[in-house]
Amino acid sequence: MVKYLNDCPTNNTKLAAWVEEWAKICKPEGVYWCDGSQAEYNRLCDELVESGLATRLNPKKRPNSLLFRSDPSDVARVEARTYIASEKQEDAGPTNNWIDPKELKKTMLGLYDGCMRGRIMYVIPFSMGPVGSKIAKIGVELTDSAYVVINMHVMTRVGTKVLEVLGADGEFVPCVHSVGKPLAPGESDNGIWPCAPIEQKYIAHFPETREIWSYGSGYGGNALLGKKCLALRIASVQARDEGWMAEHMLILKLTNPEGEVKYVTGAFPSACGKTNLAMLIPSIKGWKVETVGDDIAWMKFGEDGRLYAINPEAGFFGVAPGTNMQSNPNAMASCSKDTIFTNVALTEDGDVWWEGIGYDAPGKLIDWKGQEWDQATATTPAAHPNARFTARAANCPAIASNWEDPAGVPISAFLFGGRRPSTVPLIHQSFDWNHGVFMGSIVGSEVTAAALDLKAGTVRRDPFAMLPFCGYNMGDYFKHWLDIGKTGDADKLPKIFYVNWFRKTPEGKWLWPGFGDNSRVLKWIFNRCDNAIDAEKTQIGYMPKVDDIDRTGLEEKVTREDMEQLLAIDVEGWKKEVEMIKEHYKRFGSHLPKELEDQLAALEARLG
Ligand code: GTP
Ligand code: SPV
Ligand code: MN
Repeated sequence: MVKYLNDCPTNNTKLAAWVEEWAKICKPEGVYWCDGSQAEYNRLCDELVESGLATRLNPKKRPNSLLFRSDPSDVARVEARTYIASEKQEDAGPTNNWIDPKELKKTMLGLYDGCMRGRIMYVIPFSMGPVGSKIAKIGVELTDSAYVVINMHVMTRVGTKVLEVLGADGEFVPCVHSVGKPLAPGESDNGIWPCAPIEQKYIAHFPETREIWSYGSGYGGNALLGKKCLALRIASVQARDEGWMAEHMLILKLTNPEGEVKYVTGAFPSACGKTNLAMLIPSIKGWKVETVGDDIAWMKFGEDGRLYAINPEAGFFGVAPGTNMQSNPNAMASCSKDTIFTNVALTEDGDVWWEGIGYDAPGKLIDWKGQEWDQATATTPAAHPNARFTARAANCPAIASNWEDPAGVPISAFLFGGRRPSTVPLIHQSFDWNHGVFMGSIVGSEVTAAALDLKAGTVRRDPFAMLPFCGYNMGDYFKHWLDIGKTGDADKLPKIFYVNWFRKTPEGKWLWPGFGDNSRVLKWIFNRCDNAIDAEKTQIGYMPKVDDIDRTGLEEKVTREDMEQLLAIDVEGWKKEVEMIKEHYKRFGSHLPKELEDQLAALEARLG
């Protein structure tokens, strides 16, 4: 018998039956339908504090904010446990883990059986995109984690209003989540973050049936299923089928001193600067950047033939370490209240601290593992490198007034980039669309802490920053990008650029100051979109002349010689790069589009 803790608020019989079916499998103590209200949010926060899973921060320092410490095994996405379970392995492609969907469902049903004993099953109806927007999609997540519920409240639009739009026979993406830690009678979490061991974690996607099953992790992209699982992996499949784009991209609104506006998106791999670029405060006079989105863009052609983007999310799940009042004051303001912190350090006066927050630890801390931590003697970081803040987009001072426009914003430029200490210059522009697709397909980056099972510091290819997020064969995804170029008008499609904020000197120092100074590169991009400035045609693409990047006020920090280095073409380095791209492309076999092979051959020829 399924016990319901409140009345079923939907007349969608398919949804009600699906919830009942899963309640019978997971056997929770009770089923609760989330309404998305502030009262519900507050009540769950209080319960989480009472249970010892959360610490309420000092309301004088961080009003309405909580701190969580996760299990040390559950601190980031687990790519090795993430699966695209398509009917055919070939459709998942060489970059995704695959298990036959029948077999995977059998294994996971074994794990789900009774997995919510002693817990509540929360039913979270959510909308990715403004409620009722034509581009928005509805999902329903079942979870036994109240932490997931409060995070979904911030990151998506949750509750009764979504069920109203869903109506009696609307479509939703079913998302099942469990932390995988049933409780025996009388047992409680005792303040310890519940999750399952790594080998029992599964983040599974069934692209043909548009289903998401997640088991064993409570963290970020593994557990907040609207984000990477729905808005990227499942949506990328829908986008391919329906002729639109679901991308791991920030969206920013750029205004020049004359008041003209352009919208720019950027695909950089995890922890490579999307949030920071989306919120930047320009260091050049008269320019303005406003935020539309910091992680995901859904783009469709408008009637005028231009690509329009919406941000399907409602909040930021941002990297805390390195965020400070100099690098990103808008992010600092966004998380100054109403914020859920995970795996940052706690100060004696009930505030948070992390490496790179811009000041020394104010006294002794409790680190992300719950241990006492003293800056003078510490040998490990106080905050986990992938510690995050969950903050409302509405609390960001730089949020664009039209960020929720259901029609989206027209995009003028796409940026690609990653962490490359050498070879790749500060900025170059593609010759045309196909060359731009080539640039996206070869994105490489030094690995960061955003995924658990990778070796930080090594360079890996992360095409379009989508390597962990593409729900189908990456070779076919390249083809989809080429097809978008064929659908669109060449002069209405976004111009494509490749940026690299992460060049280093041989001594390991940053060659480019980054952050607010990235506006100087945005200025060149803005002018290139209008063909208002000439560029040099080089072997790798169009590039600015040394003095074309505005260095006003930066002349000492970045000398003309530095700039020459930042914009130099390292022919030998690029020749090595070509060899690495050949290896990278081999993986895709017959799924690699001929156009990209041709692009690579042309680059090789130009390098001589
Ligand atoms: P995900 O949320 O994982 O998708 O990451 P993201 O792409 O939004 O990355 P984010 O903006 O949070 O940046 C991650 C790290 O990169 C932070 O520690 C930043 O301080 C650092 N970073 C961002 N922009 C720059 C830059 O222009 N220069 C340098 N040197 N570091 C940067
Ligand atoms: C990323 O890893 O790209 C993120 C964080 O944005 S997570 O939501 O955990 O995937
Ligand atoms: Mn991301």
